[in-house]
Amino acid sequence: MILNAVLFGHGSHESAWRAPGADPMAPLRLDHWLACARAAETAGFDGLFLGDILCLQDRPEQHPSEALDPFLVLAALTGATQRLTLTGTASTSFTHPWTLARRILSLHHLSGGRAGWNIVTSSYPQEAANFGWPEMPPTAERYALAEDVVQAVRALWAGWDGITRLGDAASGRYLNRAPDPIRHQGRYGATGGPVNLSPAPYGPPLLAQAGSSAEGLAFAARHADQVFTVQSDLAEARAFRARLRQQVQACGRDPDTVKLLPGVVIFADETRAKAEAQLQALTARLEIDHILAKLARFTGLDLASAPLDRPLPFGPDDLQPNRFSNSRAHLLLGQARRQGLTLRQLAARFAAGRGHLLLVGTGAEVAAVLRDWLAQGAADGFNVMPPLLPQGLVDFGRHVAPHLRGQGPAPL
Ligand SMILES: Cc1cc2nc3c(=O)[nH]c(=O)nc-3n(C[C@H](O)[C@H](O)[C@H](O)COP(=O)(O)O)c2cc1C
Repeated sequence: MILNAVLFGHGSHESAWRAPGADPMAPLRLDHWLACARAAETAGFDGLFLGDILCLQDRPEQHPSEALDPFLVLAALTGATQRLTLTGTASTSFTHPWTLARRILSLHHLSGGRAGWNIVTSSYPQEAANFGWPEMPPTAERYALAEDVVQAVRALWAGWDGITRLGDAASGRYLNRAPDPIRHQGRYGATGGPVNLSPAPYGPPLLAQAGSSAEGLAFAARHADQVFTVQSDLAEARAFRARLRQQVQACGRDPDTVKLLPGVVIFADETRAKAEAQLQALTARLEIDHILAKLARFTGLDLASAPLDRPLPFGPDDLQPNRFSNSRAHLLLGQARRQGLTLRQLAARFAAGRGHLLLVGTGAEVAAVLRDWLAQGAADGFNVMPPLLPQGLVDFGRHVAPHLRGQGPAPL
């Protein structure tokens, strides 16, 4: 079971920054990230995963959305971690391939071969505006550009194949020969290359992808080693994993080398009542206006006039194709319809995990669900999204991890 810790500001719950004792400015400081990295390594995680968007989010005056560059944060964590893979998000829409190739390899060298790139196409109209685009292009166009950029990055890395670093000061030979130019013709014109850093001796960095549309899945099948996905239903996750594996095979790759990692938000404690109390304490601090604005962004629906405490008057059939994320909008409204949720309940559910699998219980209960998803072919591991950082990582290590290792609870 592969387990990544997703480090998302104060935590994945929208109220994490308002939790008792939380410092609203903590994610601006290195000590916050060091505490998270150390807690993740102690808890037995395999990797850290940092998302990124290239704009302030909606209503930045109501909620912290300042964000450090994930690759700089990960570089700062290299010395404080030994084993963890360090995966950072970077957009194919707004970053030149040469810059990407070098940034990711720089982390690869600093970490001794532990770097990963989460390839995203970006979604927010504010991101488009920040880079002088009139709007985000439709999904197919975004993924066509992503394909071009990833091919360029891979060519820039592959330009070092057959080159040996000799580093022989005595004879004055650094390389066995000069690398040849790269001949990749893409959106940015011809790439001269190669990048001024060889991947050796580590091999190429890990490639991750997060996106569930048909285009996203096809892209993942061609390139990804890990796929981050939103799945809250075991049967649907199984079907999604089967589709991914089929497409990976059709691309001539071994399906066992591509790992499907659904996101999971976990509240774990000594008793289920205590775990539920943790969730309730955060739900009670929600700013409903802010969360409804965010939900409107994710669904493309105007929710301002819908009654809060009656079953949601919208279902998946009411959705129009949007340029943000169609897959997430369908998942959220499907959940609301199946479970008969009111808008307030959907908002609370969304605030806790944005539609990801939400598990609340004892460590043994949570571990049993995670094991079951693996046993039934619905996942190869999980991207664990702690609701509160770093506390959620400590809780995972204390309550859940011992049951995944097949032992009893760890001494408190
Ligand atoms: C679990 C998950 C995490 C994501 N994280 C990011 C992120 O950190 N930054 C970003 O720009 N997009 C992120 N995305 C958005 C995707 O890269 C993609 O642009 C979006 O999901 C629309 O594509 P889709 O319709 O293929 O899902 C994420 C998507 C998913 C499903």
